Amino acid sequence: MQNFDYMTPTRLIFGKGVISKLPEVMSSFGKKILLTYGGGSIKKIGLYDKVKELLKDSEIYELPGIQPNPKYDPSVLDGVRICKEKNIDVILSVGGGSVLDCTKAIAAGAKYDGDPWDLISYKVKAKAALPIVDIITLAATGSEYDSGGVISRTETNDKIGYVDSLLYPAVSFLDPTYTFTVSKKQTAAGCADAMNHIMEQYFCEDSTLLNDGFMEAGLKSLMVNARKCLDNPEDYTARAEMMLDCTYGCNGIYALGNSASGWPCHGMEHALSAYYDITHGEGLAIITPRWMKHILSDKTVDRFVKYGVNVFGIDSNLDKFDIANKAIDETYKFFESIGIPMHLKDVGIDESRLGEMAHHVAENEGLENAWAPLNEQDILDIFKASL
Ligand code: NZQ
Ligand code: ZN
Repeated sequence: MQNFDYMTPTRLIFGKGVISKLPEVMSSFGKKILLTYGGGSIKKIGLYDKVKELLKDSEIYELPGIQPNPKYDPSVLDGVRICKEKNIDVILSVGGGSVLDCTKAIAAGAKYDGDPWDLISYKVKAKAALPIVDIITLAATGSEYDSGGVISRTETNDKIGYVDSLLYPAVSFLDPTYTFTVSKKQTAAGCADAMNHIMEQYFCEDSTLLNDGFMEAGLKSLMVNARKCLDNPEDYTARAEMMLDCTYGCNGIYALGNSASGWPCHGMEHALSAYYDITHGEGLAIITPRWMKHILSDKTVDRFVKYGVNVFGIDSNLDKFDIANKAIDETYKFFESIGIPMHLKDVGIDESRLGEMAHHVAENEGLENAWAPLNEQDILDIFKASL
């Protein structure tokens, strides 16, 4: 078991109707609020009006139109500008992970005098950030309980995971009823994203019995509950369980004491969504089983056996490589069964830029140091197998 130093300062307020606490929470940070949101889903579900009504005594400025795979230019830059011009006290993010990630970059940029990209690209360490409150409307990223945000810069094809302990939300509101309207596509992608967050922590050198059990339960819960959400989008219990599964995903709590894994599938997927603007969870679902097949070896097989037996109930008496291969097939079949397109070609990616993307990943993601090390050729092979 490895040493660790862990703290999550985020207050989680969970359940139906918890938004009634919003005025009390927001007033503790000040009067001037920047409200950030996406392309309009919060208006369709009545949440925008509700927030405005609850906060009628505050001074609210707005940054709408934050896109999936949130963009540095214009969203981060516009948000930073508003915060500085209006002397904003606190940012309220209402939407999915993209809105919240963008909000995190804005929160740090608002307290920095130079170009916010200096912070996102780790050239400069932020000294402060504005407080963030969020109402998360999509179960997927876990951004509501972690200190990271992923920002895309279109002109350089960069998609960078910007992590800093200053970026934890101060308060996250999690009301599962707000996820009732999430489409089947985004529900499935959210499930795949959260499952992959767990796998990125599960497949490592040194794990504990406690963590393995926690993560295996998380994976099983996600599979069962995502199916229920797809069958009945207004199943409160399923939406609630899925929401909390996702919230735990990226916070590190699943893997306290585990050795680092290198998060290889995320390293590879971020190139796909940077170059082609695809849905992150779909990219992960496509890559994951191909990555598994690629790294299966004498060194890694025992982890796959544990995964196969405990998550999918595969007969533990079989040959260990049979168990591992069955587990990989089950992973593929599950993603396919919830409607995820399982080939890069299905999401508009052909072979033309695979080499360029593999080079970008090899240069920027440090996957030579992953649990199962990947060089540029390995990455290219995984991309090709995903076509
Ligand atoms: O833009 P609006 O109109 O709000 O619509 C969104 C968007 O089109 C819609 N949506 C959100 N809530 C809804 C809803 N539609 C109906 N009803 C609702 N209640 O869903 C679409 C996708 O939203 P988005 O925020 O992009 O999805 P998600 O939460 O999956 O976030 C994906 C982003 O998070 C990053 C990904 O790379 C990607 O950029 N990640 C962030 C992480 C983190 N902060 O820790 C970790 C992840 O690994 C991931 O990389
Ligand atoms: Zn992810």
